[in-house]
Amino acid sequence: MTTEPAISTETSAEPQIVLRPQPGPQTDFFRTTADIAIYGGAAGGGKTWALEAEPLRYIQTVPGFGGVIFRRTSVMVLNKGGMWDESFTIYPHLGAESNLTRLEWTFPPHNNRIRFGHMEHEKTRFDWQGAQIPYIGWDELTHFTEEQFFYMLSRNRSTCGVKPYVRATTNPDADSWVANFIAWWIHPETGLPIAERASKMRYFVRLGDQLHWASDPKELAPLTDNKIVPKSVTFIPANVHDNTILLDKDPGYLANLHALSNVERERLLGGNWKIRPASGLVFIAPGSSTSMRSPTTLSRVSATGTRRAPKTAANTHVAS
Ligand SMILES: Nc1ncnc2c1ncn2[C@@H]1O[C@H](COP(=O)(O)OP(=O)(O)OP(=O)(O)O)[C@@H](O)[C@H]1O
Ligand SMILES: [Mg+2]
Repeated sequence: MTTEPAISTETSAEPQIVLRPQPGPQTDFFRTTADIAIYGGAAGGGKTWALEAEPLRYIQTVPGFGGVIFRRTSVMVLNKGGMWDESFTIYPHLGAESNLTRLEWTFPPHNNRIRFGHMEHEKTRFDWQGAQIPYIGWDELTHFTEEQFFYMLSRNRSTCGVKPYVRATTNPDADSWVANFIAWWIHPETGLPIAERASKMRYFVRLGDQLHWASDPKELAPLTDNKIVPKSVTFIPANVHDNTILLDKDPGYLANLHALSNVERERLLGGNWKIRPASGLVFIAPGSSTSMRSPTTLSRVSATGTRRAPKTAANTHVAS
């Protein structure tokens, strides 16, 4: 995979359109060479756009390249302004043709395809048995089960010369398996991304049911007698402030996020992975997007995902 961010794809159509990631985390998402990259963790950070634009770097030039981008349900794929709609703002510029029945785009000159898939039911994953998919994208990863995600790794392979890779976007969900998967990148107390760890690469191998992680793949080699190449993973946090295109076009959207309930605002605007509604507990992360105490109660989830003990002076943290 190239390390260049550019899917700056110029078309011959008039007027000329250039597609490129925005500076900041969206560019980092296009630059990463990780096998698995997870992007976002807040609303409006340009997640869906990034997921759809990412495979364009190979789609016209590498015969046999292609991808599938999943949302949990077909309704979600087809929602107004959702994945299918968004693809019409990108793919026609490359001369691609859509097929609504198959939820698929075919790109010249090699007839490479990008498909929009869904996995409504747990077992739907087996519909993909035998498939070979160089690029797998997951929009809103927390909506999928861990089994679905890891099963599809077995379908992530390629003979076209492009190293197979997985890209995913997500909003925070304290109860999701994704919260555990990216725990290293998230501050255990505040629930916010750790700035110095953004875009940093980690490696894992699975032994039995357990994932073993390290910062250097060499550390994992003895665990598998050098037989398994560890998978590289990164998390690249982004929020609405990283999407100036959206904020320029729709300045009112920020006010919409500020108008959310406290829990939702902490999650979707602040990118907080440790917050969920509960009664009788108050937690407002220091430096988070919530600047005032509020009557709505927020709770923090411990690093293991279990709910904390009832509120006491010792375990309640409120930003001043
Ligand atoms: N690099 C880009 N070039 C052009 N438009 C962009 C780019 N990145 C994002 N946008 C636009 O910003 C808007 C919001 O982006 P997008 O829908 O990808 O955000 P999101 O993070 O998926 O939002 P949500 O949290 O609601 O799912 C869209 O209209 C999209 O087309
Ligand atoms: Mg989206």
